[in-house]
Amino acid sequence: MATITIQPDLQQPATALSAAVTIAGLAPSVHNTQPWRWRIRPGALELWADRSRQLTASDPDGRLLTLSCAAALHHAQVALAAQGFGTTVVPYPDPSHPDHLAHLSVDGPVPVTAAIMRLYHAIGLRSTDRRPVAPLPIDENALLGIILAVQAQGCYLQPLRPDQVIELASTVAYAQDTEAADPAWRVEMTRWAGGTRPDGSGVPDANIPARQPRTTVPERDFGRTGTLPVDDGHDRHAVYAILYGEMDEPVDWLGAGRALSAAWLTATDHGVSVMPLSAPIEVPATRQTLRAQLAGLGYPYLVLRLGMTAERRGPAPTPRLHSSQTAVTEDE
Ligand SMILES: Cc1cc2nc3c(=O)[nH]c(=O)nc-3n(C[C@H](O)[C@H](O)[C@H](O)COP(=O)(O)O)c2cc1C
Repeated sequence: MATITIQPDLQQPATALSAAVTIAGLAPSVHNTQPWRWRIRPGALELWADRSRQLTASDPDGRLLTLSCAAALHHAQVALAAQGFGTTVVPYPDPSHPDHLAHLSVDGPVPVTAAIMRLYHAIGLRSTDRRPVAPLPIDENALLGIILAVQAQGCYLQPLRPDQVIELASTVAYAQDTEAADPAWRVEMTRWAGGTRPDGSGVPDANIPARQPRTTVPERDFGRTGTLPVDDGHDRHAVYAILYGEMDEPVDWLGAGRALSAAWLTATDHGVSVMPLSAPIEVPATRQTLRAQLAGLGYPYLVLRLGMTAERRGPAPTPRLHSSQTAVTEDE
């Protein structure tokens, strides 16, 4: 494997750490809530959950909040590795502070490989594309690479057979109908979706389809239509897959979020689009249905739609909070 020799200044990683936090802000998060809070310490980053950004109606346990924060953590690790900094992560370092999700310390140096630079480059290219996937079968090598990237983080990705996709379609529809009937869910969705989002969080109209695409598996019901133009394409070339793991505790959700980031960056590098579907995870009954689809292999964390993107311009990037709103520097 090709390597680039970079001599990181291991005495002065402060600049690299604050740059990593800025790059981590590009990570995906449920409804673009960006529910993370960073404390930049000498040689280390503390990752905290920002409960004010938790979806209390649809994610009361904080499962998707934790996945989102962990995706940002993995982005930070990739950014540091691309600068030659190895990292060690301790999950939940202080049991008396369960919102302190992880402690990342810089060690190293590590060789900067071409592979890590590809992932790093993918951070700036990755996005959620809710348009129908291109009418092309997914590249087998790309799918294998994505599955292996997930496994390297201690999780699994199970692609679904066509008959399981039909079952998934009704599972997703049931989950979304259940949520839409809940007034608290509707209030929450109004807070996080629609409009132009000048505050830098949430999903703007520009990223919500102007009409429901013609798909077997329904896309996320944002409670409104947006302005994203969609063509008549179908999802028949998409691969639907369940991201899962052996246990279903907060520490496992941290692993799932890192696996999600690794999968998504690998997919982006291969020209494969990723669209998460979390509604069937949010509703306990449909989470159980997904678990049954896994035939007891493990606990589902998220459903992913994978598809080829073809050559086309993506939707406008979803806005982000400024890093000063999500990070503080502490000297001791
Ligand atoms: C845990 C998690 C769950 C998500 N669930 C959905 C979903 O159900 N439907 C959807 O369209 N996007 C979903 N997303 C994508 C986010 O809406 C998206 O990451 C966010 O709006 C930021 O946009 P970007 O990915 O284009 O940067 C999810 C993302 C994460 C991390």
